[in-house]
Amino acid sequence: MKKLILVALAVFAINAMAASDGATLFKNCAGCHGVNAQKKALGFSKVINSWKADKIESALIGYKKGTYGGAMKGIMKTQAVRLSDEKIKILSKYISTLKK
Ligand code: HEC
Repeated sequence: MKKLILVALAVFAINAMAASDGATLFKNCAGCHGVNAQKKALGFSKVINSWKADKIESALIGYKKGTYGGAMKGIMKTQAVRLSDEKIKILSKYISTLKK
């Protein structure tokens, strides 16, 4: 029984780690922004793979708080409110390293 609990905990830990990996988190964004964040999302956003991590991070925090964005910011608010500040940091760093 004890062993089973340990196994369950280990699986949980691995899942939690995977979810906070930049590449895994970015899968939720690639559909609109492109696999290398090289596209204008829905033909509208700026191309974010040329942005520095700080700039991406402040945009995402802004979407979350409602202090940043253009005509389609509602779409990004839905995305950003699901992300913790920690995940936003990881994602921003990851996006800034993607192929230009
Ligand atoms: C359903 C499509 C869609 C998804 C999924 C999506 N985005 Fe966006 N994103 C947009 C659109 C549209 C905009 C422009 C919104 C506006 O008007 O400000 C945008 C804007 C942005 C911007 C700011 C660029 C600018 O134009 O100012 C960043 C940074 C960003 N998205 C990151 C992400 C990240 C990170 C994810 C994944 C967690 C994500 N997006 C998921 C559609 C999407």
